[in-house]
Amino acid sequence: MEQDRRRAIRGPWISFRDDPMKTTVSDALHHEPDGLILIEDGVITHAGDWNALRGQLGGIRVEHYPDKLIMPGFVDTHVHYPQLQTIGAYGKQLVDWLEHYTFPAEQRFADPAHARGVADRFLDECLRAGTTTASVYCTVHPASVDAFFEAAVQRGMRMQAGKVLMDRNAPEGLRDTAQRGYDESAALIRRWHGHARLTYAITPRFAPSCSPGQLEAAGTLWAQSPGTAMQTHLSENTREVEWVRELFPERANYLDVYAHYGLIGPRAVFGHCLHLTGPEWDLLRDSGSAIAHCPTSNAFLGSGLFDFGRAAAAGGALRLGLATDVGAGTSLSMLVTMGAAYRMAQLGGHSLSAACAFYLATRGGARALHLADRIGGIEPGMEADLLVMDLKSTPLLEFRMRHCESLEEALFLQMTMADDRAIAAVYIGGALRHERAPA
Ligand code: GUN
Ligand code: ZN
Repeated sequence: MEQDRRRAIRGPWISFRDDPMKTTVSDALHHEPDGLILIEDGVITHAGDWNALRGQLGGIRVEHYPDKLIMPGFVDTHVHYPQLQTIGAYGKQLVDWLEHYTFPAEQRFADPAHARGVADRFLDECLRAGTTTASVYCTVHPASVDAFFEAAVQRGMRMQAGKVLMDRNAPEGLRDTAQRGYDESAALIRRWHGHARLTYAITPRFAPSCSPGQLEAAGTLWAQSPGTAMQTHLSENTREVEWVRELFPERANYLDVYAHYGLIGPRAVFGHCLHLTGPEWDLLRDSGSAIAHCPTSNAFLGSGLFDFGRAAAAGGALRLGLATDVGAGTSLSMLVTMGAAYRMAQLGGHSLSAACAFYLATRGGARALHLADRIGGIEPGMEADLLVMDLKSTPLLEFRMRHCESLEEALFLQMTMADDRAIAAVYIGGALRHERAPA
């Protein structure tokens, strides 16, 4: 019995103590070249050097990864699980793409069996990619949330999700009403929020799909539901920004629409944020809201460039995470997403460092979701959601790694060239939940 409750994992590991945008990389990044991580009941009890800690083993079996790199599991701060079946669909920009691909696909989630099948596939793909926590959009159907959370509980994963609220500018089968959206979300909060490792996220899709009455109801529900999150889209596409101006002419800007209905503050996560005005940047920072930056999606839908320089200049004051935004995003891999963030930032004149990218994919994302006291780091008290990375996952990476002279160089190479093939193993709450098949 005792044996099952305790686990030990040995190997090189890294974890961020702090934000490298705020301090030096050597202060922010902890690297243990031959480390030991001890786990009890899913929580890390000791993490440090093998020689210093081996005396604590007490005879338990050690999983040893001498030639890999262990790190906290990745955090994806904005993703749509129902869109897994439309990833990589050709054409056009946001509004056309929603109408042609997204809305038809989401209508199928009225069927609980369909929802469960896609939820299972989505979470298995997250595990294969090394993502252990995500902030997830379901569809308008409450059954889509039940299916997702049931699948997450079965895998022991820490997940945040919610039913999309949309009562206008969508097809008949995908619309709720302000009252129904409120009632269904409230019932889902009672059923799921705080259960196992789950957080409920109140999810008004975006201002164009929510009437003023629905946004007001969402704000009321959020105020009534301590500890829940709120997620939505903000300023992704210039036509969308124009549309919001037409729909809410009395509001100063796009973010002011959400602010007016009480939908900003700690645990609010805004996807995209590409075309923000100065006051919107300031309000995001000052209200303690978070930005989910979705680089593969922004490139794929031609939405625009995220001002990474501005976000980085805010240092630790702004909560920022990275996100795949599948199905507008083209990969569930946070490694691919980090590489895309680097390339998109380059186009805007900012060179994202490997340390910043890996921070954002782990502890930064956890901080954006207000979960940094539980996940995103390897230290005592943290939940043991870990990934084991193979730094030589392709023949070319194996060759190129021979010419890497520092950890930072190796990390940058991984975010530039690696993908889910680099994820050798994933532990959820200390239990091995994914192991890459041998080549
Ligand atoms: N804005 C409103 N809904 C969506 C969505 O599903 N995907 C993206 N990328 N943007 C949105
Ligand atoms: Zn999205």
